[in-house]
Amino acid sequence: MNTLIISSSLSKTSRSFILCKAIHALLQEKGVNAELLDAREMELLPCHKGASPSMEELTKKVEKADNIIFGMGVHCYSVNDGLKIILDNCCGGSVGKFFGIVCAAGGERSYLSTMHLTQICMNEWRMIQLPRIVYATGKDFTDDTISNDDLKDRIKLFAEEFSSIGEKLIS
Ligand SMILES: Cc1cc2nc3c(=O)[nH]c(=O)nc-3n(C[C@H](O)[C@H](O)[C@H](O)COP(=O)(O)O)c2cc1C
Repeated sequence: MNTLIISSSLSKTSRSFILCKAIHALLQEKGVNAELLDAREMELLPCHKGASPSMEELTKKVEKADNIIFGMGVHCYSVNDGLKIILDNCCGGSVGKFFGIVCAAGGERSYLSTMHLTQICMNEWRMIQLPRIVYATGKDFTDDTISNDDLKDRIKLFAEEFSSIGEKLIS
């Protein structure tokens, strides 16, 4: 199974990237061919400004992936800017694919913000979502490390369910 993990935050201290990295490691332990892409290493150009080479590369990787995990930060109760660019420009090849969401937010009350990503993926590409989201806030981290044991358990469950359901959907 080829799983693409797209960490879309452009923040130097991105917490959603830390979540993506943890899930990447767990999927690899399970033998999943998982690739973690970091938007901070891409040149992201807004819609109508053309696609950069890194955006073209991402578009091809999305086409080839069996399923996708999106890492997002909450911005104004919605998806972060880098993710919107990726969705608008690089995700045409995701039709019908299984996907999951891992999300970092400033506070506990913004958890419904991931619904905007759900709506885009389901309405635009008829994607099928894992009905479990990893949602974390600043309180779950100490410096750049996940320090909340409950969050660690939720990450493990997410990785287990994503890999087992993902396998079933491609076989
Ligand atoms: C422009 C902007 C808007 C934000 N809006 C919200 C918000 O509506 N709700 C919230 O809980 N956190 C909000 N935050 C905090 C981020 O969600 C938080 O910093 C999170 O860690 C971002 O993910 P990242 O670290 O992966 O970039 C906002 C941050 C920025 C920069």
